[in-house]
Amino acid sequence: MLKIAVLVSGGGTNLQAIIDAVEKGKIRDTQIVKVISNKADAYALQRAEKHGIPAQAVVRKDYPDKAAFHEALLAAVDAAGADLIVLAGFLVVLPPEMIRKYRRRIINIHPSLIPSFCGDGFYGLRVHEAVLARGVKVTGATVHFVDEGTDTGPIIVQKAVEVKEGDTPEVLQRRVMEEAEWILLPAVIDDIAAGKLKIGGEE
Ligand code: GAR
Repeated sequence: MLKIAVLVSGGGTNLQAIIDAVEKGKIRDTQIVKVISNKADAYALQRAEKHGIPAQAVVRKDYPDKAAFHEALLAAVDAAGADLIVLAGFLVVLPPEMIRKYRRRIINIHPSLIPSFCGDGFYGLRVHEAVLARGVKVTGATVHFVDEGTDTGPIIVQKAVEVKEGDTPEVLQRRVMEEAEWILLPAVIDDIAAGKLKIGGEE
């Protein structure tokens, strides 16, 4: 049984896709042991609670400094006892210590075809705004392992999505989610649970 902890910051539609896939058996032999958010009012926390998944908020302003926040975040992750950490719209830069400790055990979903439209400042709707501003005709989503950089870790899978005439950032975001994100992330977790994709170990 693969134990996963899911880290979120917002609405949690990717979390919902994972929950649904686990419940329908599309992700096999996997248990979501904990959902952690850096926002106390993240709707994702309610999604977790509705499905009986332990949910916890670890909020920066509740701690005197970044080091204390990082320590609390790492403690929350450690307490989950997870084999795999899934960043599903988690908009906090991870503490380097966590990355070291969970080397090749943290995956992230990013809403573009890395290395385009990624790195510092590219998150959420901003990515899609930048895609439309540049006028590219194809975008997509990427699932990758997390390393010390921002969106620089080894790429696991990508899926292209068409940009259409008249798209707004919101319309494009929704298409990228429906056609790529909600499919890719559960599929990667299932591959890991089935042993088709190895996690942990040496790089
Ligand atoms: C998703 O589009 C995810 O790819 C993106 O935030 C959104 C969260 O939506 N993540 C990033 O931009 C990470 N750099 P959700 O809360 O509905 O899953």
